[in-house]
Amino acid sequence: MTADSRPRYAHLTGWGRYAPAGILTNADLERMVDTSDEWIVSRTGIRERRVAAAHETTASMASVAALRAIAVAGIDPADIDLILLGTLTPDYWMPATAALVKEAIGNTKATAMDLAAACSGFVYGYATAQAYITSGMAKHVLVIGAELLTRFLDYTDRNTCILFGDGAGAVVLSASDEPGGGLGIELTTEPQGAYMIWLPSGGSKSPPSAATIARGEHFIRMEGRETYRFATRTLATTALAAIEHAGLKPDDISLIIPHQANVRIIEAVAKGLDLSMDRMFVNVDRYGNTSAASIPIALAEAANSGRIKVGDRIVIVAFGAGFTSGAVAIEWTVDPARGALGEAISPDAVHVRPPLDWDSVDPIPEALAEILARPGPVPLDLSDVVPGEPEPAAHPIAHSAARR
Ligand code: ACO
Repeated sequence: MTADSRPRYAHLTGWGRYAPAGILTNADLERMVDTSDEWIVSRTGIRERRVAAAHETTASMASVAALRAIAVAGIDPADIDLILLGTLTPDYWMPATAALVKEAIGNTKATAMDLAAACSGFVYGYATAQAYITSGMAKHVLVIGAELLTRFLDYTDRNTCILFGDGAGAVVLSASDEPGGGLGIELTTEPQGAYMIWLPSGGSKSPPSAATIARGEHFIRMEGRETYRFATRTLATTALAAIEHAGLKPDDISLIIPHQANVRIIEAVAKGLDLSMDRMFVNVDRYGNTSAASIPIALAEAANSGRIKVGDRIVIVAFGAGFTSGAVAIEWTVDPARGALGEAISPDAVHVRPPLDWDSVDPIPEALAEILARPGPVPLDLSDVVPGEPEPAAHPIAHSAARR
């Protein structure tokens, strides 16, 4: 890439998401740990989450979401010159999952790297993409959030296993001389929260061994109450800072797309910004917390279900392990009807090249094997549902399993 000093704007031109077919319901979890649908729904708003099948990986899910976003942007995969992938569940420690995605989507020229900022990974990636474009370093950037969290959960720990699910979302940011796109950005990191959500072993401080496995140190651990406090304190202030950097007020924002961790946290953000819940996008009821994937999945669903129109100012805002948080205020400039171009792309279009002379062990946690063997159609209602409120009428776009 060569530097080009012309001032540019970074428009959000493409969006896409992928949700694996397997569904883990609260009723399923009731059979695994001492919990109840009533407890989970009232404390978190989550009713079900998606689970990746054995043949799926973070890279494969990311690649489907990426090809969908690229189709919506109306460009060729070869046009992408930077791939940024936010994840805490990469396929391997190395190489970067973004490199596998680059090959799977058929791109030869892009710089490709992963971004480790936990649930804020997608927003950190979005901000980085904006910087590359406005500095003239890139024309089309693919930003992905993808997670396969169900393989890093202890299905005997009710504090964590009820919360998380799998999925991927992606956007394309494209350079333009027309005003629009990202208007204001705020990113924060508070290291005092470093051990509030963490995965103790497998890194250089505590390499993998029989002892670390026996001690259950390869699963996500979390101090729920402290994390909750951080999230409710930080999400609204981070969103407000991005809105102010854009020269706007909360009332100028038509839709906030917050990290989908817990509907009570989202309600606290609405309160903190003095906005009603109808300006908050909620789909945590259907996916649980998909970490870095949660915002791009929600963004794609918001656009495809008619919640965003050209000229709208929206805000994406996340928090996560670190503690990290990030927000971007965005002016939407592309016809949301283009989303149908992405939905037309089948997951079968993607092939992630496996390594030679090596195969992984069965990746499916024992506790989930029966659930994944369960047949059944995949209903995918794109509507924005606040848990506890009446379900809206089915969206006219019906999705079959092949289009999930
Ligand atoms: N079912 C039933 N009871 C449970 C469950 C469960 N699944 N989990 C915990 N409990 C119990 C606890 O043991 C506790 O019992 P006790 O009072 O006898 O000790 C009681 O319920 C209350 O526990 P709290 O932790 O106080 O429950 P709280 O209302 O705080 O809700 C929750 C817990 C949902 C985890 C909440 O704290 C939360 O949402 N925290 C934020 C989590 C989050 O967003 N994490 C993701 C961060 S993003 C990332 O980067 C990965």
